[in-house]
Order: sequence, then C-alpha cells, then structure tokens
Amino acid sequence: MTGDIPEHYSGGGNLADRIARDLRARGLEPSDLTPAEFEPLDEFHFRGRAATLELAAQMRLTPQSNVLDIGSGLGGVARTIADTAGCHVTGIDLTAELCAAAAEISRWLGLADKTEFQQGDATSLPFSDDAFDAAITVHVAMNIPAKHRMYSEARRVLRPGALFAVYDILQGEGGEMIFPAPWAAEPSISHLATPQEMETLLREAGFKLLDSIDSTAESLRWLEERTAGTGPPPPVPITTRLLFGEGYKQMVQNQLRALRERRMLTWSFLCEA
Ligand SMILES: C[S@@+](CC[C@H](N)C(=O)[O-])C[C@H]1O[C@@H](n2cnc3c(N)ncnc32)[C@H](O)[C@@H]1O
Repeated sequence: MTGDIPEHYSGGGNLADRIARDLRARGLEPSDLTPAEFEPLDEFHFRGRAATLELAAQMRLTPQSNVLDIGSGLGGVARTIADTAGCHVTGIDLTAELCAAAAEISRWLGLADKTEFQQGDATSLPFSDDAFDAAITVHVAMNIPAKHRMYSEARRVLRPGALFAVYDILQGEGGEMIFPAPWAAEPSISHLATPQEMETLLREAGFKLLDSIDSTAESLRWLEERTAGTGPPPPVPITTRLLFGEGYKQMVQNQLRALRERRMLTWSFLCEA
C-alpha cells in the first residue's frame, strides 16, 4: 500500500518548478521570501507554523541539536525548526518528489546547510541507533498501518533521554472519517489510531509519555477561519491545494464536518526516549 502514498502526494510532479513559476507569475521571487512566508504551502498540517513553533518550544533544542523530522513533506516543519532553533534538521519522507522540492525550497531560503531531505520509509529508518538528539513527526502516521514499527524506529534512532514530539490526526469517537481527505482520497491508505491506541503504541515502543493535548477545537477554528477568509491574509498566495487541484475543496469540506462531529481529532504527544 505504501506505493499509493507517493502517488497521492506527488501533485503531478515537477513541484519545485511549478511553485517557482506560480510565485513569479504573481510577481514574487522565491529567494526573496522568508520561511514564515512559505507557511501556506509548506506547513501541511492544522494550525501551520504556529503549531510547529509550539512543538519546537517543548523539544529542548539548542543550535547543536541534531533533529529528525519523520514524514517531512515539503520541509516546512524542518525549516521552521532549523531557522528558529539554529540547529540541523534531517527530513525523511516516502515521497521522493516532495523531498526534491523541499531541498530546492531550502536552497531558495538560504537554509540548505541546516536542512537535508532524503527519501525513505518511517517504518525502516536508514539511520544508526542513537543518531538524533530530538525528533518530530507531524500529520504522517495517518498514512501508516504499521505504527508500532514507526514508533519503534523513532525510539531506536533517538539517544536515550531525547524528546519526540508527535502531532497527528486521530480517530475520534464521532464516527468514521469522510473521504476524500487531504491524506487519503479513499479509505485504503488511511489508518487512524485512537488517542488510547496512540498512548499504548508510544509506551510499547519504549517512550515515556510526558504530555498529551487534544487540539481538535483549535484546529476546527483555524480551518473555519481559513475557509471563511476571516483570518489574516496568507503571505504567499499558493497553498497545499497545489498538490490536489480542484479536489482540495471537497477534502476541506469533509475535514470541517469531521472535526465538528469529532470523527477526526488533532492531538499531540510529547515523549521521552
Ligand atoms: C500531510 S503530509 C505532512 C508533511 C509534513 N510533516 C508537514 O506537516 O508539512 C504527510 C507526509 O507523510 C509522508 N509519508 C506517508 N507515509 C510515510 C512513510 N511510511 N514514511 C515516510 N513518510 C511518509 C507523505 O509522503 C507526506 O509527505
């Protein structure tokens, strides 16, 4: 099933060129933008950069930290962390097209020396034991059935005592998810765990759970503001819609209903290896 996931996220290919072309068509030069201005496009999760900054603030990062971002997508999470903490972030993602575009965006933004992106599978990480001082994963596990393998791998590559921030979409008590969703056009590549299952999975992988937060209500408010256009105007006029075209509208409508009915939840966990 992992073969279907890169297809779902590749957005028709050639992403970096298309992003650059779309920006220039609007009079914007990619290398003149800041990491924060890329948020609508490259922070592909509820509450965007604000959520990444909240998680990063808890991860005890220093400029010397060697950080892993599991399921790094277009690299927004990795760049926000590298830029604000001054540390090095390695992103790994199953979708080669996203890794290539993430590396190119880092070059545009002057963060190529602080971020790197490589294609790989979260359930079989190509890194040695104890290789990282901290790790983060944002909106990724909903595509991964073998979550026990994903979290055991995260534990293996973290040095003892390192922090692991997990922010994901979970199965709620309000019923089944409605498709298409941004992470899955249809149910076969969607694998949502409940909050209770997540706690068990993380503990069984060898993590100590330090904190867990249900942010579903904030996520709903954020999406309502974005769709109503009542929030602040986006700094860059292209969004993750680029990956999904016109089908994105229906995905967003389904998410709004699923959040209101608590069919899907957003939840974060802070864990210690
Ligand atoms: C919704 S995007 C989130 C990207 C990024 N974390 C962010 O918040 O902007 C989900 C990402 O998970 C990646 N992914 C899905 N399954 C994966 C796996 N088994 N290993 C690594 N990455 C995976 C996808 O390719 C996609 O880039």
